[in-house]
Amino acid sequence: MKLKQTLLTLSVMAATVAPAFAGEVEVLHWWTSGGEAKSVAALKGMLEEQGHSWKDFAVAGGGGESAMTVLKTRAVSGNPPSAAQIKGHDIQEWGGLGFLTTLDDVAAEEKWDDNVPSMVTDIMKFNGEYVAVPVNVHRVNWLWANPAVFEKSGAQVPTTLDEFFVAAEKIKAAGFIPLAHGGQAWQDATVFEAIALDVLGSEDYVKAFVDLDMDVLGGEKMVEVFAKFQKVHDYIDSNSPGRDWNVATSMVINGEAAMQIMGDWAKGEFTAAGKMPGKDYVCVPAPGTAGQFTHNVDSFAFFELDDKESQMAQKALAATILDKDFQEVFNLNKGSIPVRLDMDMSKFDQCALDSMATFKESATTGDLVPSMAHGMSTTSYAQGAIYDVVTNFFNDSSADPKEAASKLAKAVKAAM
Ligand code: GAL
Repeated sequence: MKLKQTLLTLSVMAATVAPAFAGEVEVLHWWTSGGEAKSVAALKGMLEEQGHSWKDFAVAGGGGESAMTVLKTRAVSGNPPSAAQIKGHDIQEWGGLGFLTTLDDVAAEEKWDDNVPSMVTDIMKFNGEYVAVPVNVHRVNWLWANPAVFEKSGAQVPTTLDEFFVAAEKIKAAGFIPLAHGGQAWQDATVFEAIALDVLGSEDYVKAFVDLDMDVLGGEKMVEVFAKFQKVHDYIDSNSPGRDWNVATSMVINGEAAMQIMGDWAKGEFTAAGKMPGKDYVCVPAPGTAGQFTHNVDSFAFFELDDKESQMAQKALAATILDKDFQEVFNLNKGSIPVRLDMDMSKFDQCALDSMATFKESATTGDLVPSMAHGMSTTSYAQGAIYDVVTNFFNDSSADPKEAASKLAKAVKAAM
């Protein structure tokens, strides 16, 4: 018995024995909701299995605005974390300031260029060198619906905005909240861009939010986007201001509300609550956007650090993020799809399979577009200008859509 125990202890020690260069990684992120926390715990666990230690630097707040503010303070005071959740255009901004370190050696060893689409790896490189690692691909233009609430209201899950308004009326009349929403700038922008994708179409969406084309930003179709966005406001509840996105998701989960327009991190909440897609909830493209895909690629950027142990731990973290086992477990919890194209998808549900199929298909039709609301389409300055106009408009019931479109163009111009 004693021997058995000793052997067991020894084998446990062997399994957890530290590598030659065991180090610590301090990782800044904003993944604090139920599904998000489970996802990030998988990364921590896999890193610790390799003998490194994980110092969690979580800054709550969906969309990451607070996290970015805290990160700036830490970096400017000369004490950056090892890695931080930095995405899209922000990677270029941090790279330009000289804070980031190259990961090219890990990338070459792990063959990232061969396994990740170039549309993603391009975002991860600064001056041609890897400074960040992608974790996943989120589809933002989703509608999450509670079928029981629809049934009780005698309504159909909508596929177009017109159908959305018809369904929302019935749901409201039946005493439910049609659309669960959190009144925070990034959530307002998430709903706004879904409507823009439908009304403008992919080509003009790109002209507006990638090219910052003044004619489209201030044009007639943008007026229509604002008008429809204003109408959506009739179907949210009066407690929405300030509400966190995952609280809004829980309203759909518990049948208080019928729908939420949100990226597929919402699925992480349904999953964490033990809900089954196709039964307890359904995922359909945001109204009018079937075949279109607004992408939001989460990634970690790596900071330049001095000591060798920390550098080794950083490299282990970078390699782990694109490891196939990690990609599977992380994305199952997170609601996103793996960023590697050579994955076995057999454990993924229909929402993820639909997302993967649309991701691949939309890349060939021009319907794969970057999310403005999630920092993929333009600089943080232009994004901030759009946020302001969109949020102020949404919160003012007497605001004029025509004026809003012209304000949008002016605000973006000033931020360029
Ligand atoms: C997004 C992020 C997602 C999700 C969401 C809510 O910006 O890309 O991974 O976590 O915020 O926190």
